[in-house]
Amino acid sequence: MLVNGKHYRTIWLKENDDSIVQIIDQRWLPHKFVIEDLKTVDDVAKAIKDMHVRGAGLIGAAAGYGMYLAALNGDDVREASGKLKATRPTAVNLAWACDRQLKAIDSSKDKIGTAKKTAKEIANDDAEFCRRIGENGAKIIEEISRRKNGETVNILTHCNAGWLAFVDYGSATAPIYSAHDRGIKIHVWVDETRPRNQGARLTAWELGQHGVPHTVIPDNVGGHLMQHGKVDMVIVGSDRTTRTGDVANKIGTYLKALAANDNNVPFYVALPSSSFDWIKRDGVKEIPIEERGGEEVRFIQGLHDGEIKKVLLTPEKSNTANYAFDVTPSRLVTGLITERGICDASEEGILELFPEHSKD
Ligand code: MRU
Repeated sequence: MLVNGKHYRTIWLKENDDSIVQIIDQRWLPHKFVIEDLKTVDDVAKAIKDMHVRGAGLIGAAAGYGMYLAALNGDDVREASGKLKATRPTAVNLAWACDRQLKAIDSSKDKIGTAKKTAKEIANDDAEFCRRIGENGAKIIEEISRRKNGETVNILTHCNAGWLAFVDYGSATAPIYSAHDRGIKIHVWVDETRPRNQGARLTAWELGQHGVPHTVIPDNVGGHLMQHGKVDMVIVGSDRTTRTGDVANKIGTYLKALAANDNNVPFYVALPSSSFDWIKRDGVKEIPIEERGGEEVRFIQGLHDGEIKKVLLTPEKSNTANYAFDVTPSRLVTGLITERGICDASEEGILELFPEHSKD
């Protein structure tokens, strides 16, 4: 996608130096655009854990490159995989990418060459899948626009399932970009998404870079907007979706799904196939939910006098809880937008698009 008119992906190998992986360090957006060099698997593990990179697809791509750096630096790749998998528990793309790398490396004599090729393939697949999600999802937006006689389509999204959460395009934002590029009038309600504000900081920045009209709203506004007919559809991403269609996504998604259901607003989830967990069936009971440090709740970060600062928000001694994800049961999901098409959030619907997983 474009940043000040220049095309970027979120992760790449440094030009003329294949021993360095480069990322956009997302901790400083939207106020500073910082590119960080990663040279070891430990650098990559830290970048994932401390959220220099984040979002399911990008976590997977970063893990792929982390495995390549491990192979390049002569590390034990199984140990490297364990280290990477331990960084964040909810997004299934992480384990998927590590396992894809291990399988490729194990069956090859040229371990480094294979790991490099596989890392690039994981990243390229991610970008291509998101591009196709865009094409498939744009049809839904087009249909709503037709029904509204070309009036603006209002879409609500939560967190950042944009290109910053993937390698390019994004999942939830890909249909938005695609429809916008086709000339459909769109406006996006962007949930701020406390505590790390991925919506206010990242989604708003991305949409702005692409010229998509948008409005940032506090997390608790969505229900009110839906009651007043100001939301035509919701599109969110997913960090892990069970084979039965239960969706783990950023904390607060479930509440938006309940409000959408109560107001007959279609609630779509956009995800590449790498975000399906083909084994788990009951999302609420089985998907591990990451709990992060309380300082993310206690402090808030922003720009003050040209410098990025953190300020204390709560009383010094208040307890905090920081569950990073929740699970939206499949019954609240109107449909899943994938690289192969749109399906029901049910085992039958999903397997119709991905029959090769019937026996998993
Ligand atoms: O904690 P994060 O920022 O890594 O959370 C991931 C997300 O941004 C969302 O849950 C997103 O909607 C799905 S990931 C594409």
